[in-house]
Amino acid sequence: MGKDVIVACDFKSAEETFAFLDRFCDRKPFVKIGMELFYAEGPAIVRAIKARGHKVFLDLKLHDIPHTVKQAMAVLSRLDVDIVNLHAAGTGAMMRAAIEGLTRDDGTRPLLIAVTQLTSTDQRAMEDDLMIHAPIDEVVMHYALTAKNAGLDGVVCSPREAGAVHACCGERFLTVTPGVRFSNGDVGDQRRVMTPMEARRIGSDYIVVGRPITAAPDPVAAYERCVREFVS
Ligand code: C5P
Repeated sequence: MGKDVIVACDFKSAEETFAFLDRFCDRKPFVKIGMELFYAEGPAIVRAIKARGHKVFLDLKLHDIPHTVKQAMAVLSRLDVDIVNLHAAGTGAMMRAAIEGLTRDDGTRPLLIAVTQLTSTDQRAMEDDLMIHAPIDEVVMHYALTAKNAGLDGVVCSPREAGAVHACCGERFLTVTPGVRFSNGDVGDQRRVMTPMEARRIGSDYIVVGRPITAAPDPVAAYERCVREFVS
């Protein structure tokens, strides 16, 4: 897969999601389905969006014992999603089990990426709550390398970390980066943001964009602008 813009469909219902996607007519953006929509609508929403011709990144961030994650990943693989994810904090054993579960009889599988440290976690929370005392940048790189060694395809990270992740794990290791805003846009609750053009320059493989597209007066025009700045 090449560089692409993934639209975070953070909607409450299938109805809202389809009303949004209908605006794109024949364009079929890559869609991210997160916990809110998946827990509201279940696997049917994934099947319906796939049936409309979209690629799907199912962002459920699994984290459990290896056996449970393996079995859950086998179910998600049958949904024919294109990208799924988990928490690298679940350890290399959990990540290897996830790959086993995802791999179909014919050897194919969805791409599997890892969350390193959530972008909502800062140095202080990591030290106080998780008792991890290394610098957060080092922790992120260590988790990325553990994910790579377990056979994963990439990580979700801040666009600011994308260059360092590639330097540490290789250019082919995917960086999927949320926290993207237009240069004249509202930052909202995201802290460390980059424009699509900056994310492209620093080497992100996929940008995940939610509100700058979903809350725009003209979402299709906002999507086209992202594609123009990031891909072409
Ligand atoms: O609306 P916005 O562009 O901020 O949406 C970003 C999307 O990426 C949301 O679905 C959010 O949950 C997700 N995300 C994030 N930061 C992470 C991981 C996922 O913003 N570290």
